[in-house]
Amino acid sequence: MIVERAYAHLSSYDEDTWPWSVPCVRQLLNEGLRFTAPVTFLVGENGSGKSTLVEALAEGFGLDSYGGSHDWRYASPRGKSTLGERMKFDAAPRGRRMVTSWSARKGFFLRAETALDALGREGFSPDSVSHGEGFLVAFRGKFLHAGLYVLDEPEAALSFSSCLELIGHIDRLTKEGGQVICATHSPLLTALPGADIIEVGEHGMRRVAWRELGVVDHWRRYLADPHVYLRHIVEP
Ligand SMILES: Nc1ncnc2c1ncn2[C@@H]1O[C@H](COP(=O)(O)OP(=O)(O)OP(=O)(O)O)[C@@H](O)[C@H]1O
Ligand SMILES: [Mg+2]
Repeated sequence: MIVERAYAHLSSYDEDTWPWSVPCVRQLLNEGLRFTAPVTFLVGENGSGKSTLVEALAEGFGLDSYGGSHDWRYASPRGKSTLGERMKFDAAPRGRRMVTSWSARKGFFLRAETALDALGREGFSPDSVSHGEGFLVAFRGKFLHAGLYVLDEPEAALSFSSCLELIGHIDRLTKEGGQVICATHSPLLTALPGADIIEVGEHGMRRVAWRELGVVDHWRRYLADPHVYLRHIVEP
């Protein structure tokens, strides 16, 4: 592992203004966020604050908020967010040098909205491959070294079997000493054995077992009988 805890301090803030209006951000300010496993998944409804959180974690660690590798930091026109600027980390023994020395930091930030642009800057040619293939090329070529890998919905472009491949890359990366923090809606990814799952929502953040995740329960019921859901949505 690279980092054991993230935290941010602010003497005062306006609870009605983003990002302080987001419950998980306020919990981070009050309690910090502890990482207890090499892989942490953040799961929650649209708008619950997952991207707000992962972007700030990536920025705080020195990864470009636009997405990409550690050596692309601040190459983008996007400024640092108010939360990212204040984010601090308690290092794990393996991550001490990375957290204390800017030049020793290694990692990668996959930001859903700008992933293809960022891959282009990384030397991958997004025009010559499909959306999902581009992501896979990046995972194969970038998930190699111990570092902090922050991913925002990496499953967005991936098929079922490509998601399984991604799990394999994440697993190998953590065996090399890397750490992954990943926002996701995927019941497939979150099933990775040993991963920590944090459910983000109106309550803030809480740790949940995979079997108890709302998204897993919904998918289980939907696949068993789609009609149970669709009768409320589609007119007969
Ligand atoms: N730059 C911004 N300025 C103001 N409000 C924002 C900004 N970015 C996000 N928000 C708001 O913060 C809340 C959390 O958004 P966020 O993008 O973090 O959610 P999310 O959990 O990643 O959702 P999704 O699953 O749709 O990706 C939302 O209410 C959103 O409208
Ligand atoms: Mg998001």
